[in-house]
Amino acid sequence: MFRRPMRLILMRLGVNGPKPIVVFGNFLHRCVRPLAVIDVGYLKKYGTIIGVYDGRNPVLLVAEPEIIKQITVKDFQAFADRRSLTTEHPIINKALFLNTGDDWKRLRTIMSPTFTSGKMRRMYHLVRECVREMCDHLDVIAGGQPINIRPVHQCFALDVIASCAFATKINAQSEPNSEFVVNGRRAMDFNVWQMIPSFVFPKWLNRALGVRTQFVEEPSEYMFTMARHILANRRRQTGVGKEYHDFIQLLIDANARHTNNNNKSIDLSDDEEEVVETQQKLYFGTKTMTEEEIIAQSWLFLLAGFESTATTMAYLSYELARNPDVQQRLYEEVVEAMDSEGEIDYDRLHGLPYLDAVFSESMRLYPVATRLEREAGQPVVLKTSSGADIPIFKGQLVEIPVHAIHRSERYYPNPNQFDPDRFLPQNKHLIAPYTYLPFGTGPRNCIGNRFAIMEVKLCIAHLVKRFRFTTTAQTESKLLYVNLSPALVAKSVTIGIEKR
Ligand code: HEM
Repeated sequence: MFRRPMRLILMRLGVNGPKPIVVFGNFLHRCVRPLAVIDVGYLKKYGTIIGVYDGRNPVLLVAEPEIIKQITVKDFQAFADRRSLTTEHPIINKALFLNTGDDWKRLRTIMSPTFTSGKMRRMYHLVRECVREMCDHLDVIAGGQPINIRPVHQCFALDVIASCAFATKINAQSEPNSEFVVNGRRAMDFNVWQMIPSFVFPKWLNRALGVRTQFVEEPSEYMFTMARHILANRRRQTGVGKEYHDFIQLLIDANARHTNNNNKSIDLSDDEEEVVETQQKLYFGTKTMTEEEIIAQSWLFLLAGFESTATTMAYLSYELARNPDVQQRLYEEVVEAMDSEGEIDYDRLHGLPYLDAVFSESMRLYPVATRLEREAGQPVVLKTSSGADIPIFKGQLVEIPVHAIHRSERYYPNPNQFDPDRFLPQNKHLIAPYTYLPFGTGPRNCIGNRFAIMEVKLCIAHLVKRFRFTTTAQTESKLLYVNLSPALVAKSVTIGIEKR
């Protein structure tokens, strides 16, 4: 039932791990405990190289910085892809996150210039507008009473995605039942009963059972139709499109750049040139993106950018509420940096050391992706710190337990303590490379990280300026996470909000 050779090899090499059971491997642990808690326990019990089973699939969990570097950077060619999920959906399987091989290289090359800091600057005002609406909404409800803050941040994140990826103005805070909001939220409802077979059963069995994808299709169809309409409109308005600075237009432009093969004639800022050059090293072939691929990426921005940013902001608000001294220091830094109108520009925002430290420390304690994963595309030998070699076969899954690494005493003193000072410029060098991975690492890292950082920092800066986060009698002393989710999702995050 199990793929014995891998287990036997790992055992012979002294790689420890929990005992698997038939068919399910170690997957059932996830039904009773959140993955983040499981991983912290694994690291304590079995060390930094651990063998586990996702159903029948052997997975090597790696928490040694040098090997993480080998997998994600040095031997990237061998570990370029994540596991191939059961997706037979004609659009969903074109999303960058799920793509593999040359298709991934082509898409990432075309899309990378979309996320340069130059492009983020042009999108800044769209995000600022959403922050304004969120503050207006909080003005009405802020009275210090207990609020589950995640849904509030979710509405903000949806406003941002709607306006930056779907060129659509919604106000999710005041119109929570609009079509976009309802479908946006539903698209994120992973179907657990589809997820389990896809982890546990082989692909042919999933196909026979009609499991086409883990994603909920109906609300996704709504997003595809929307993106299709926008694309058609933009095509009709040739020449006018240059006025748009949203992701769809950037994807159309990036694609056009490749179609015309005229990169050199486009006026690129320094950082854009750097990205294009790096990505061109990965890119080969002359293909461009199809319309379906552009639609798939818009949908992916919703999926990748909605829950991750909302959850990150909820955790950050929670820690600020619990640490009034940190909040006060952040408030002083932000107020000092704002102009007489209470505005702060892109460069100023990104130059604030304490805001950066608070944000980074919050992402250390609560990295949304509990694990990173890579699938070996060819045989490789991993070198451990003890000098032992671990042979990896083609198709072997390797996972990096980010949350457990961030919470390990091995890499962070007092790992469960919220201490932004760790990330101040004078202390940052003490953090060992490849032990801080909230956005992943290497060429397959989060392509949207600049956007996410801009969005979270801009929102938190304005919130802290206008409101005070407090604890209430219902604020959780310790957050509880949901089971069966690959992401770190708290059941609720309760704080109070008062006007300053
Ligand atoms: C705080 C917010 C966010 C967090 C914590 C986050 C985290 C991550 C992580 C951990 C990965 C996997 C990286 C790896 O395997 O090394 C990832 C991939 C990705 N993220 Fe994000 N992300 C965030 C926001 C966003 C946003 C706003 C977008 C898009 C607008 C985005 C788009 C993507 C995409 C497309 C990938 C797949 C990249 C590829 O496979 O080439 N993310 N993200």
